[in-house]
Amino acid sequence: MGGQFNAHDFSSFASSRRSTRDFLPNPVADELIERIIADGLTSPSWSNTRPFVVAVAKGDVRDRLSIEFLKRFELLKSAQGEGIFGKIKALFRRKGLPTSNWLVIRPYHKDLIPRSRRIGKELYSHMGIEREDKKARDEFWARNYEFFGAPVELFLFTHKSLGKFAASDAGLFMQNLMLSAHSQGLGTCAQGAVAVWEDAVRKEFKISKNYSLLCGICVGYPSEGKINQFGANRITPSEIILPEKNNDR
Ligand SMILES: Cc1cc2nc3c(=O)[nH]c(=O)nc-3n(C[C@H](O)[C@H](O)[C@H](O)COP(=O)(O)O)c2cc1C
Repeated sequence: MGGQFNAHDFSSFASSRRSTRDFLPNPVADELIERIIADGLTSPSWSNTRPFVVAVAKGDVRDRLSIEFLKRFELLKSAQGEGIFGKIKALFRRKGLPTSNWLVIRPYHKDLIPRSRRIGKELYSHMGIEREDKKARDEFWARNYEFFGAPVELFLFTHKSLGKFAASDAGLFMQNLMLSAHSQGLGTCAQGAVAVWEDAVRKEFKISKNYSLLCGICVGYPSEGKINQFGANRITPSEIILPEKNNDR
């Protein structure tokens, strides 16, 4: 997964991490999960508050959540609309779902649409899925709810009081955790797809009302599957570095 890397060369190490979307059934040792969480906690944090908590779903809990998510996704499939968010929107109106993170039902802002379309197009094309093939696209998306076969799913919750700074801290944590997992031969994939049914996760864990679900992260050993050979495009620094106002004069 991600080819060769040299952990002493940060650029090659960081760039060799790729989202893993197919896992072997091999279990991940509890100590390893604790280790990557500990590495995650070496990230910087707003006033060192660490305004996030993690639910570790494995074994029966993981399986129950996967079954529940797949059941709910079956309902989504019956809804009309273009793309997953169109479906979620339709179901939201008709059935009162999703139960959380309503932001994801909004269409992307036009600033972001080209990038979002590009990843969708390239990923489907890599897998040989035609844009018009709704059944294949649904099956592909449904793999999110099997956690892509990963034996462990982490659910990351952020403290509501700190808003975007809690999400920022959680993101820093998440990236350290993912790189740590990568250094251990584990694969990961962040999953916004599982953030729409927070109530299902709350049924399985003791979670304070002060926290809300940000996303899931699946963790396990990558398979040799074709999907894991996919390399999402990476934009260049010039695409995000702002020009100085003086240069416009
Ligand atoms: C917060 C967050 C949520 C994501 N949600 C999903 C998801 O639900 N399903 C999925 O397949 N990938 C998901 N991704 C993975 C992105 O698609 C991926 O990181 C991006 O395409 C860049 O590819 P790379 O991780 O291989 O570098 C998510 C990533 C982030 C950071």
